[in-house]
Amino acid sequence: MPELNVALGERSYPIFIGSNILQNADYFAPYINSSQALIVTNQTIDPIFGEKLTNTLGFVESLDKVVLPDGEKYKNLDTLNLIFDALLEKAHNRKTTLIALGGGVIGDMAGFAAASYQRGVNFIQVPTTLLSQVDSSVGGKTGVNHRLGKNMIGAFYQPKCVVIDTDVLSTLPDKELSAGLAEVIKYGLIADSEFFVWLEQNMSALLSRDTDALSYAIERSCQIKADVVAADEKEGGVRAILNLGHTFGHAIEADQGYGNWLHGEAVGAGMVMACDLSYRMGWIEKDVVDRARALIAAANLPVTPPEDMTTETFMKYMSIDKKVLDKKLRLVLLNACGSAVVTSDFSHDALIETLQC
Ligand code: NAD
Ligand code: GLY
Repeated sequence: MPELNVALGERSYPIFIGSNILQNADYFAPYINSSQALIVTNQTIDPIFGEKLTNTLGFVESLDKVVLPDGEKYKNLDTLNLIFDALLEKAHNRKTTLIALGGGVIGDMAGFAAASYQRGVNFIQVPTTLLSQVDSSVGGKTGVNHRLGKNMIGAFYQPKCVVIDTDVLSTLPDKELSAGLAEVIKYGLIADSEFFVWLEQNMSALLSRDTDALSYAIERSCQIKADVVAADEKEGGVRAILNLGHTFGHAIEADQGYGNWLHGEAVGAGMVMACDLSYRMGWIEKDVVDRARALIAAANLPVTPPEDMTTETFMKYMSIDKKVLDKKLRLVLLNACGSAVVTSDFSHDALIETLQC
């Protein structure tokens, strides 16, 4: 069973990947060092996996659970307060451990609650969507949305371990599987052209949930993410490449109303836009754009932004992106399949052409 490591000195942690490991207390016990723990989950996931995890954590003396409403539209400060309410009502102390059981929304909120409850308590990620298994559960970005921008309030805060049970994907809706594949494709485009080719060859196996194909895609994605995070934990530089397509995608999500376009869907269309701009700048061949568009479409993801989004709307949202520095928009663009740069050195006219396409 693959065990990866996110190498961050004293904050290093393992990523366990395997079949049916949600049932195995050995993956949790060493990372829970008090008699208290709180499972943070949502109304959809609790009936499917809540009891299983509760049984696994039977060794915890005071195990509590908070069940949040499900959806990106609830990823906000009001919902975060429900976690703090549960912690305080049950008198959880500074040694407690939060266990995020869910997709990226739950992981990001539980992580931020852990970062801020009594100035920081332990947390464990148990990601249950493909997107959260390959991306959001690793790397310590936590937080909530603001009405004016996505993930605008949060903290870098690393989990103690990540437990990825590949079997949980069997109940994931197809649309959510595709959303996760957007982030998997991202890793090929930014860091590993051979993995990109592997994805071209194995997309139908992934869509039909072939266990070996999914396990390999998860492992390779987590390894790339772990390496990037180890090199630049707080996104002072190279980590920003993990946001290929995200500046366009976040604009789509915010404009369409959180949850109406899935994050992965918006990233899918956004990555095609980033490739298109890279091509207009002369940095990649047309062939790379065509292959990226074809692979994203093959994953059943959108390859164009919503028809009602204007250039002005994109620019409004993109101007408050977290990568804006000194009032300059920076974007993640490609200079080859498998190689990305973060740059403000693109032509404004080329960007406008991409937005108008
Ligand atoms: P999500 O958490 O909303 O989950 C998608 C849906 O699937 C939800 O309805 C959920 O209840 C359901 N679900 C989850 N697991 C299931 C399962 N096994 N079976 C059946 N249903 C299941 O969405 P997501 O795509 O996992 O995460 C998106 C969020 O992640 C966004 O808020 C995004 O900003 C964030 N994100 C964070 C990072 C990071 O580095 N922290 C990276 C990428 C994305
Ligand atoms: N998902 C982007 C990052 O973790 O940096």
